[in-house]
Parts: sequence; C-alpha cells; structure tokens
Amino acid sequence: MSRLVPGVTRPAPFAIAIDGAMIPAHPGETLAAAMVAAGAYRMRDDRSGAPRGMLCNMGTCSECFVWIAMEDGWRRRRACLTLAEDGMRIATHEAPL
Ligand code: FES
Repeated sequence: MSRLVPGVTRPAPFAIAIDGAMIPAHPGETLAAAMVAAGAYRMRDDRSGAPRGMLCNMGTCSECFVWIAMEDGWRRRRACLTLAEDGMRIATHEAPL
C-alpha cells in the first residue's frame, strides 16, 4: 500500500536510525509518522515487556515515548510530537549508556 497520494511531491527524504536500523523520513514528518511508514510500530515496552506504539497521535496517551540521542544525552520524547531531523538516533528500549 502506497503512503503517497498521486501527484503530491515532497522534499527528498533523509535518514534516521531506529535501534540502529536506518529508515527514511521526510522534512515535516513526525518520528511516529516516519516509523509507522517504515513498519516500525514498536515505540516502547510497558513494564511487562509488552510492545506499545502510536495510539492517539496527538500527544495525550504517552504510548509513543521513544529515546532520542541529544547533545546532552538520551531523552524521552513523544514520537507523535517530535519532528524527524536528519541523522536522528532513536532507541525504542531503555536508553543506551
Ligand atoms: S501517540 Fe499518543 S502521545 Fe503520541
């Protein structure tokens, strides 16, 4: 199934790393949109280890928390509210040390 509507053009994609695997993301896309488009539905695990993923897509349920590598370390952010940036590194499990 295509995620593109015929005739719609978008800027060239860049790459982001999800648990070390590179996936494409387009400028203006959220991490959640890029992850779901790439088939990466698992964004975190709950306390029992069950997979959790995007649910509300508007920042209220907190099911989409991922770890993002930032200049000062790994930070948790909602994937549905965070725009993808070229070269981002994302972890879906505990933040790497
Ligand atoms: S999907 Fe609900 S907060 Fe992101």
